[in-house]
Amino acid sequence: MNILRKCYDSAASFYGRGNDLFWKKRFDWLRKTIKNTLEITEIPVEPNASILDLGCGTGIASEEFFKLYPQTEEIVGIDLSPKMGEEAKKILGDKFIFYEGDYTKDSLWQTMSKKFQGVLAFYTFHWIPLNNYSAIIQHIHKILKDRGWVIGIAMGQKELGGIFDDMIAELLQIYLPPKQVSKILSQWNPRDVSEIEEAFKKSGFSYSRITSLRYSISVQRYKDLISIILYQYNFWLAGLDPTLFPLVHEKLMQFVKNDARFLEKDGKIQVPHHLIVFEAHKV
Ligand SMILES: C[S@@+](CC[C@H](N)C(=O)[O-])C[C@H]1O[C@@H](n2cnc3c(N)ncnc32)[C@H](O)[C@@H]1O
Repeated sequence: MNILRKCYDSAASFYGRGNDLFWKKRFDWLRKTIKNTLEITEIPVEPNASILDLGCGTGIASEEFFKLYPQTEEIVGIDLSPKMGEEAKKILGDKFIFYEGDYTKDSLWQTMSKKFQGVLAFYTFHWIPLNNYSAIIQHIHKILKDRGWVIGIAMGQKELGGIFDDMIAELLQIYLPPKQVSKILSQWNPRDVSEIEEAFKKSGFSYSRITSLRYSISVQRYKDLISIILYQYNFWLAGLDPTLFPLVHEKLMQFVKNDARFLEKDGKIQVPHHLIVFEAHKV
């Protein structure tokens, strides 16, 4: 089974709407970033608009979109994970239509006969394999109506200080053969601003605005940082022998405690975040 599908199927029950206080705080913050992005972009939304939500997950972006633009007729959500889609359907009702599918596959786009006024792509484009990036942006351009738009947020290369380039790679190499390590890590593909800009331009979008946003939040204990790395970004644990998990946990703890990116200041640990906020318009 696709690693991402497995990872998000297992996160569906708590993704965005769980009761656990730690995760509730994380997802309140994520929802706020989506809401703020939708509010500041100037997008035309006609009465009876149809919108496509790529990598819709449990439907947080669709939910916020319906609140802001109640005139929307329908949102079509696509996701690899049927469990995430089921959660979205429970909340969003009849105006939300879910399809299980992989938007990196040309065959999925070929089945789409209708045109959309807008595309939402929140927290999902960092999962696109490098060689699929331009093709996906071209597909989006094609299914948009005139004056259509795409907006979203993707993780940047310095998310969590860029630990997937070094710390996680090093950790995995201790337990897994190099081939498996690079296969797992090749899933994580944050792009930089100029690459995203270039892809939009090449696909015929006439206007785009892409912002790189770096900031840090603080958590109280190293345990909290470890939870974020292990559960929010758990794809790199796919295929790991479960009996090795305590060892991975312990090693990771040693890494973060000795790493200047996660400084403890006044009893709090800094967690560096990096987001890329983007919008592009077809005129
Ligand atoms: C971090 S979640 C974001 C969910 C939602 N957009 C939000 O902002 O809350 C990323 C979602 O993208 C989906 N995803 C990743 N790659 C995908 C692909 N190639 N096709 C369809 N869905 C994909 C995952 O299954 C997951 O549900």
